[in-house]
Amino acid sequence: MSRNTAENSAPIALATAFESFEELWSPRIVTRVNDYDVRVAKVAGEHVWHAHDDTDEFFLVIEGELHISLREGGAERAVTLPRGSVFTVPKGVEHRPYAPAGASILMFEPTGTLSVGDRHEEIPDHVDATTGHALGA
Ligand code: NI
Repeated sequence: MSRNTAENSAPIALATAFESFEELWSPRIVTRVNDYDVRVAKVAGEHVWHAHDDTDEFFLVIEGELHISLREGGAERAVTLPRGSVFTVPKGVEHRPYAPAGASILMFEPTGTLSVGDRHEEIPDHVDATTGHALGA
């Protein structure tokens, strides 16, 4: 995605963005804010345990329900995000998002952030290791 200019600036309907792709765990970049991406993804089942060493990761649940397992201080817990909820995973914290019944989510993170983090377990075929795809690509 090119940088924002007055010429290429236009509203994007999230519903339309979500209709434009089917792949799961494969984020699309809908817009940028300074050096951050706003990404949307359809998810179902489990992502992988991973951590972003240098950045927090913001989640907003648009549809469905997202769960995120977290490993902090040697303990493990999970948070549940119903539709309309926001949550930020602190940088360096191992996490594993999952959505047994499926969800549509929005993420906010620095451009170039890998979907599977800087550290991760083996990546299964259903998880896309990406820094985000252009919408419509
Ligand atoms: Ni993450």
